[in-house]
Amino acid sequence: MGASSPTEVDISTDEFCRVYDELPLWSAPFGALLLEHVPLPRGGEVLDVGAGTGFLSVELAQRCGAASRVVAVDPWSAALRRLRSRVEFHNLANVELIESPLEDAGLAANRFDLIVSNLGVNNFADPARAVAECFRVAKPHGAFALATNTQGHMQEFYEVYADVLKGVGTPAVLRALEEHIARRTTAGALVSLLETAGFEVQDTIERPFAMRFADGTALLNHHLVRLAFLPDWMAVSEDVDGVFESLERRLNEVALKRGELRLSVPMLYVKAEKRA
Ligand SMILES: C[S@@+](CC[C@H](N)C(=O)[O-])C[C@H]1O[C@@H](n2cnc3c(N)ncnc32)[C@H](O)[C@@H]1O
Repeated sequence: MGASSPTEVDISTDEFCRVYDELPLWSAPFGALLLEHVPLPRGGEVLDVGAGTGFLSVELAQRCGAASRVVAVDPWSAALRRLRSRVEFHNLANVELIESPLEDAGLAANRFDLIVSNLGVNNFADPARAVAECFRVAKPHGAFALATNTQGHMQEFYEVYADVLKGVGTPAVLRALEEHIARRTTAGALVSLLETAGFEVQDTIERPFAMRFADGTALLNHHLVRLAFLPDWMAVSEDVDGVFESLERRLNEVALKRGELRLSVPMLYVKAEKRA
């Protein structure tokens, strides 16, 4: 798989955030899905939970108009520095940044007309706690709109990985892969998470997109894969030698047969309302 280990990336630096932000092909399709459907409160207050480098915060601040206010919350300092420079460049007076996990941000209850989160829910340490906090800070009848990937994500990759692990003959490792896959949310689990917090789900829209690679070697060396997926993939079979060499070989065989390695990514948009 070549050069550096995927865990050597330091996401706390400005340099990393500039590069991360210039390569938004992973999060942009989710953001575009959300922006196609999300209500746009004119003159209202919007909360972007897990804003990251903040492309969605900036879009909403402009699309909802100057009379609106967007609060971007994220504990990732370097990402918020990136967002701040963008807010200053665009001269946006209606974006406020809070560097904190949502749960510790000290936001007032019943404040926001709209809460959004793009690719947040799979990343919160305690999703139930984060969603309960969203409920607390939403206005009565306020909206909560999320976009996320769900189980089924890159299933063509996981099928080959499971086949390789079956060949290794260690059931515990195969179970570890199944547990890893099951950690990603489903439409049903997300709806139930929101309803448990008190939201009423009004809209769910599913749309897939495809990430295409020439072969397995290209996939395993891609910057986003090395940053966001490979460390967890490798952790599943870290105690068994040679798994990733076999996996790369098998993925390359599949790509040769199919003409490319095409991985499906199911995207889910959910919109809920805080019951009064
Ligand atoms: C996959 S990134 C998505 C960033 C951005 N929304 C985008 O679409 O590019 C997930 C973000 O959630 C943030 N995050 C994780 N836990 C959080 C929490 N408890 N409160 C707020 N943000 C959180 C991370 O720091 C990270 O920026």
